[in-house]
Amino acid sequence: MFWVTKFSGFFAAAMVMIVLSPSLQSFPPAEAIRSSHLESYLRFPSQVTNNIPLNRFSFRKAPLFRNADECASNNKRICDPSLVHVAITLDVEYLRGSIAAVHSILHHSRCPESVFFHFLVSETNLETVVRSTFPELKFKIYYFNPERVRKIISTSVRQALEQPLNYARNYLADLLEPCVNRVIYLDSDIVVVDDIAKLWRTNLGKKTIGAPEYCHANFTKYFTKSFWSEPRFSGTFSGRNACYFNTGVMVIDLQKWRRVGYTKRIEKWMDIQKVNRIYELGSLPPYLLVFAGHVAPIEHRWNQHGLGGDNVRGSCRDLHPGPVSLLHWSGSGKPWIRLDSKKPCPLDSLWAPYDLYGFSSVNSS
Ligand SMILES: *[C@@H]1O[C@H](CO)[C@@H](O)[C@H](O)[C@H]1NC(C)=O
Repeated sequence: MFWVTKFSGFFAAAMVMIVLSPSLQSFPPAEAIRSSHLESYLRFPSQVTNNIPLNRFSFRKAPLFRNADECASNNKRICDPSLVHVAITLDVEYLRGSIAAVHSILHHSRCPESVFFHFLVSETNLETVVRSTFPELKFKIYYFNPERVRKIISTSVRQALEQPLNYARNYLADLLEPCVNRVIYLDSDIVVVDDIAKLWRTNLGKKTIGAPEYCHANFTKYFTKSFWSEPRFSGTFSGRNACYFNTGVMVIDLQKWRRVGYTKRIEKWMDIQKVNRIYELGSLPPYLLVFAGHVAPIEHRWNQHGLGGDNVRGSCRDLHPGPVSLLHWSGSGKPWIRLDSKKPCPLDSLWAPYDLYGFSSVNSS
């Protein structure tokens, strides 16, 4: 299943077309008027041509995206019930990814003006970057105080997983405006290639969160031996058909979350981890502990994860079989780093069209 990085350009492009074609057919009608964009799937963005030095906050202005006729007219008020709410973190390291994610969502939405973004930040004021890149975006910035989690974060296998902002998703129910009752949480290393409103309409039934589940994955490996050998810990999974799910794409019923107080339950496991070392990863295992087996299933097309590769250099991942609505570069490799280093994986070319970093004229208005 691993692709070697050294693919001939043509073959890679051909493969990309093949793997993508099922999802292209299922794109909403709006896609017809944007079909010229398909060509850019197959093209790397032209790199900066002039000598102006780039800083990490240099982004081109995105085109304006307008609602189709049938969209509910909405005002700018955050509590408008017709809005689709999306939460994403913004930090200096992953800013380029977050900006591309927002761009991809707007691009594929039938009603882009009906999407409201909730940005979670811990450092630097990034509001001006968002405002200048997306002049008409509906959004609000929330400050997440890293001190809130600093003392309950334990070391994990990858340093990137220890960033306090990774844990901000645990606090969405507290941070977001109380009138926001549902939110889609998305990681920064994703692009959406379908209408986000479809994900928004997920039926959660009686469940608090929805996510694609992976019941064939070996659940055992997400926890340590000492977890499994201690019934007062592992007993939490008894009678629960617990399956792995990825926390990078979740639909969350915030009302239910607030009512039950899931944040406290997650923090309880993080406290246990500080003393007992029950898992090795970062923010994910507490979610498995609290929610696995109680997750509303979402189609796998909404989280084609693992594209970052799970190894050191040179490991490129293939898509999982089936249609694609969201691509997720989870794992240690990120497409913007690989594209910049001129050693991209074949599927990184699917991320590139949404990149707004730099001064080149591709996609700018
Ligand atoms: C699942 O993972 C555990 C721990 O890594 C391992 O001991 C076990 O053999 C694995 N089970 C299967 C079915 O692969």
